[in-house]
Amino acid sequence: MGENIAQKIIKAHLVSGQMEPGKEIAIKIDQTLTQDATGTMAYLQFEAMGVPRVKTRLSVSYVDHNTLQTGFENADDHRFLQTVAAKHGIYFSRPGNGICHQVHLERFGVPGQTLLGSDSHTPTGGGIGMLAIGAGGLDVAVAMGGGPFYLNMPKVLNIKLTGHLQPWVSAKDIILEILRILSVKGGVGKVIEYGGPGVATLSVPERATITNMGAELGATTSIFPSDEVTRLFLKAQGREQDWQEIKADEDAVYDEYLEINLSELEPMVAQPHSPDRVAKVKEVGPIAVNQVAIGSCTNSSFTDMMKVAGILKGKKVHPDVSLVISPGSKQVFEMLARNGALADIISAGARILESACGPCIGMGQSPCSGGISLRTFNRNFEGRSGTADAQIYLVSPEVAAASAIKGVLTDPRDLGAPIEIAQPEKFLIDDSMVLPPAEDPSTVEVVRGPNIKPLPINRELPEKVECSVLLKVGDNITTDHIMPAGAKILPLRSNIPAISQYVFSAIDPTFAERALAAGGGFIVGGHNYGQGSSREHAALAPMYLGVKAVLAKSFARIHRANLINFGIVPLTFINEADYDAIGQGDKLAIDFSKMAEAGKVTVTNLANGKQITMEHGLSPRQVDIIKAGGLLNYTKKQNS
Ligand code: F3S
Repeated sequence: MGENIAQKIIKAHLVSGQMEPGKEIAIKIDQTLTQDATGTMAYLQFEAMGVPRVKTRLSVSYVDHNTLQTGFENADDHRFLQTVAAKHGIYFSRPGNGICHQVHLERFGVPGQTLLGSDSHTPTGGGIGMLAIGAGGLDVAVAMGGGPFYLNMPKVLNIKLTGHLQPWVSAKDIILEILRILSVKGGVGKVIEYGGPGVATLSVPERATITNMGAELGATTSIFPSDEVTRLFLKAQGREQDWQEIKADEDAVYDEYLEINLSELEPMVAQPHSPDRVAKVKEVGPIAVNQVAIGSCTNSSFTDMMKVAGILKGKKVHPDVSLVISPGSKQVFEMLARNGALADIISAGARILESACGPCIGMGQSPCSGGISLRTFNRNFEGRSGTADAQIYLVSPEVAAASAIKGVLTDPRDLGAPIEIAQPEKFLIDDSMVLPPAEDPSTVEVVRGPNIKPLPINRELPEKVECSVLLKVGDNITTDHIMPAGAKILPLRSNIPAISQYVFSAIDPTFAERALAAGGGFIVGGHNYGQGSSREHAALAPMYLGVKAVLAKSFARIHRANLINFGIVPLTFINEADYDAIGQGDKLAIDFSKMAEAGKVTVTNLANGKQITMEHGLSPRQVDIIKAGGLLNYTKKQNS
């Protein structure tokens, strides 16, 4: 029986386990990436492991999230990241060099290799044929130390692409259509592998737009073949030597199948407040727009920006619209500046931001109160923009630029003749903003400003825990709900005591105070608890506040892994109706002593005497991690 691409790469990197869907496997990691919001913790954790130099083929530390410097905190973090990278064998991509996933695709990604990144959109690398997975910073720290990455062997969903995109329809519309069909839960436990004749019609940046938003499907990762299109992209990046062909065998078998005819697609839009609330632009109609934001790791490639420049050329941004544009990398930014497209963008009245995440992570450019913002980004969760009552719509760069001119949501097909932009034969290559690690680490002193606080370490999990339910929440709680971001909070990411004060602050401003006063407790959640991002602060800060277990109907993959990594037990209701038998404030007694043998635990609600059996789904290794109080304690024990 032939193998698909995911199976081939996993097999070539398999350290332990059987490649049967759902079974725990461990794979060797070739490359890692971190961004600054998760990186400071990842490197503090790496330091705590006592490994002098990374053991990966390549590790890169990016600064793209928190580039706004309104106080000393971010600048301190950047300096820490730069010096810790130099000391431990890690490349450092300076602030201004671009968004981690885009720069990694351009300058570092290698088909057939594995990439583990402390950012949920790491699967962007699947656009170039990498097996690229998002994880918590602690998992990345372990991988940098040479440890394998553990995950459950995913199912592989084959999406066959046929036909070709019509004028003004883009890669964003493909992934929005897939989100419409599969929903934000449709990819959970799966690798999404693209194939079929439509693949050859898509450039690498277009493929990367699609794999990027596989994260919104909840997928483990998404991957495209590495073919002639990939070779030409790498050649244009001066990296042809990194290319190898990767394709599925003719008789490859998949767990699931879906077919999308690209010729039938139209411009799409994801409506507030979920990336799967997708409709055709024509169906939604001409709603008035306050802001248009173009950029992010999803849609700020050279061709994306050139199309935007082409639409804006000779026109003016509508007076009621604020148009903000952030090119995804310095490479793209400089190419636009040199070929004159930047002048067209500026002339139209766009506001140019630096090459960074910016408004995507709520770092500036929050919309006006109740405002409508069209964004080329990947997420439109409530409040993520920094404005609680803003309505965020996700669209392609073409829809965004057309709407910025017209002042209302606009189908770009109404603009007339399409703008064709060819992939460049040669990109502008200048890696001077990527600092290589020091040849002699002893010459480097790691600089820790006052914003870098020591890592809090959890204690071992007691066999029996009696605590109260600190908070009960519903379905689809995101990591933004648990640990909000934004310009006020993100600078505190290296200071856990300070940032933990904001846990659940939008839902219950008293949460942190109550949790500390009670000496910890439990959280009860609905379905898809922790969806959204790899933000490990959403586990680390609750751990600091004493949260011992989260009892939910289901969990998002990365967040569940982060809870385990920080010693918080993820428990799933076997009978969903039991969710109703627990109220906020109820005192629960949980016996963890038979966790390894039973696969289940008994929860006694001392408020009503009801006994509930819940499953944990933890492997024996994960039970040991939880008992040790988290992965760091566990890894230290293993190494001692
Ligand atoms: Fe940055 Fe937004 Fe992507 S925060 S890494 S641009 S999802």
